[in-house]
Amino acid sequence: MGFGGGKIILVGEHAVVHGTPAIAAGIRRGVSSIARPADQDSLHVEPWGRTWRPNAKSEEPLERAFERILSRYADRPPLRFVVRVALPPGAGLGCSAAIGVSLIDAIDKALGVARSRAELGALALEWERFFHGDPSGIDNLASALGGLLCYRRSSPPRRISPKGSIFLVVAHSGQRSNTKEMVARVSQRLAGSPEWARRALDEVKTLAIDAEAAMCSGDLIALGAVLNRNHEILRSLNLSTNRLEALCREARSAGALGAKITGAGGGGCMVALAAEAEHADRISGALAAESFVEEVGRAA
Ligand code: MEV
Repeated sequence: MGFGGGKIILVGEHAVVHGTPAIAAGIRRGVSSIARPADQDSLHVEPWGRTWRPNAKSEEPLERAFERILSRYADRPPLRFVVRVALPPGAGLGCSAAIGVSLIDAIDKALGVARSRAELGALALEWERFFHGDPSGIDNLASALGGLLCYRRSSPPRRISPKGSIFLVVAHSGQRSNTKEMVARVSQRLAGSPEWARRALDEVKTLAIDAEAAMCSGDLIALGAVLNRNHEILRSLNLSTNRLEALCREARSAGALGAKITGAGGGGCMVALAAEAEHADRISGALAAESFVEEVGRAA
């Protein structure tokens, strides 16, 4: 069985595409895949009830991505993949990366290929490119490695060991987020105001450093302030929606120490920081949306 986890970005989405560090956490929900020898290659996603075939010329990114990954394995039997996706697509939780990671993991296991999780995550970037154009690499690495990571584009990810667990509440706005479109929107905005862009990216870099320091010293109040400030920057990039704003407000009213968009924005999920486990349950209960609690920071 191959597995790729979902992810939450705590600090630095979008800015990470432009070279600043970001902090992400792998989550327990994800995608599992089984690969079995068959008459021909196919990929069946169970909850969606659809089957795809590898095709480098297809209009569907999934078929082109599937073909690319299979082409990395010479002299193999045809394989049928059955994929179980336990993440909402277009929610900012790294669904596409998790599918790629779980597929590669499943093929490796079926063919007896030895590869580290870091190598697996790096290979899954090839898959991600078919969906997001210019992905930074954070989703596929967080999916493969799990745990809490600091990542800067083109550098190996670094594990963060926080002082104690961090309890997060993730809520879905119910609106679909389109990463490719949002990344293009941000790139255009940054290119149009280079001086503003430089200051915003510098600030996100400082926020990532401050967030790591706060996690490592167990200062959740400081961490919450970082999340709130990061949300303001994402909002100024036109990535929030009325629904995401309402969820952040509701979470803060329920005592969340910080709340922000997570992932590409323009829909998808928000994340809120709780003081401890029970508090997270209370925040989750107070939100008028589908939500779940995630404990991050324990060794993956
Ligand atoms: C998407 O989960 C995160 C973005 O920063 C895009 C990327 O890093 O590839 C918006």
